[in-house]
Amino acid sequence: MTVYQATASAPVNIACIKYWGKRDTKLILPTNSSLSVTLDQDHLRSTTTSRADPSFQQDRLWLNGTEDEIKEGGRLATCIREMKALRKQLEDKDSSLPKISDYHVHISSRNNFPTAAGLASSASGFAALVASLAALYQLPTSRSDLSRIARQGSGSACRSLFGGFVAWQKGERADGSDSLAVEVAPREHWPDIHALICVVNDEKKGTSSTSGMQRTVETSPLLQHRIKHVVPERMAAISKAILARDFDTFARITMQDSNQFHAVALDTEPPIFYMNDVSRAIIALIVEYNRVAVEKGGKLKAAYTYDAGPNAVIYAPKENIKEIVELIVKYFPQAENFKDPFGLFGAAGVQGKVVE
Ligand code: DP6
Repeated sequence: MTVYQATASAPVNIACIKYWGKRDTKLILPTNSSLSVTLDQDHLRSTTTSRADPSFQQDRLWLNGTEDEIKEGGRLATCIREMKALRKQLEDKDSSLPKISDYHVHISSRNNFPTAAGLASSASGFAALVASLAALYQLPTSRSDLSRIARQGSGSACRSLFGGFVAWQKGERADGSDSLAVEVAPREHWPDIHALICVVNDEKKGTSSTSGMQRTVETSPLLQHRIKHVVPERMAAISKAILARDFDTFARITMQDSNQFHAVALDTEPPIFYMNDVSRAIIALIVEYNRVAVEKGGKLKAAYTYDAGPNAVIYAPKENIKEIVELIVKYFPQAENFKDPFGLFGAAGVQGKVVE
């Protein structure tokens, strides 16, 4: 008997130009384009196995071993339905293919990073889900085409289908057919850039991205300015900086965009605060670190960025990582030892308060 089963994995990505706002909440079409770096460290991944079998009574899904409901019309159901439809198209074209699109699927997904790391797992989770179904159904579909389906699971997931530097083009069409991820540059193009993840707080965030960004769309005038007058230029400038391996420009834009995303959250009614005192102290540390470097006639040495929570991600050229780790450990003595600071992308623990 043939077993129809496939496993795929996808890593977390961290945006430099933030996605924040939907123009279509059902299709998950964003109000602006975004750009991220897919982390390539082995321990920040979701791995998903999908199996299709005629004996299955319904589609089912387990997350880290616990069954999760697949709500009708929900994001999971949409992704599974879209992937089955692609398989069905193949079967209709080639009658020799087994008709497994009729079978129900069982899907098991695991994150190899602790949920306690405070990292959003929806991006890697939906990317791995779509990738595993694509492997199960042996689809010849390109990554960009698959990204359109992952996007409907969680917007940021579309970017995790690629490694390296990835843009999510917002697209113009109402059906979302041109809202997809494209590679800006592969990881090998700029291996010198590393990321440190500083876990400031591992509790679940107060306002989810989904509801927070919707409130921003409804109430923030600053978001409209950002969409029209800021992001398009930043997307072009940061892509150029990546292609030129220009860390100074990359860092400047990354920090500006993180700042504006948090400003837009603050401009929301009622306001949303994602960063805390420790997050702000890490910003001050990086600003000072860069100021000293520039004063000495050098360039920016590190860039911070924050998503919808207090944890910092610091991008820096490899040669600066050791110094940054030492600075963080000095100012945040409660910091756990960095797990792997000199791997391609190190994950760090930073807990507790700042010592003056
Ligand atoms: C701040 O992709 O989690 O991390 O599409 O509603 O699932 P949904 O939102 P999600 O939002 C991510 C927001 C962000 C910025 C980013 O990753 O670009």
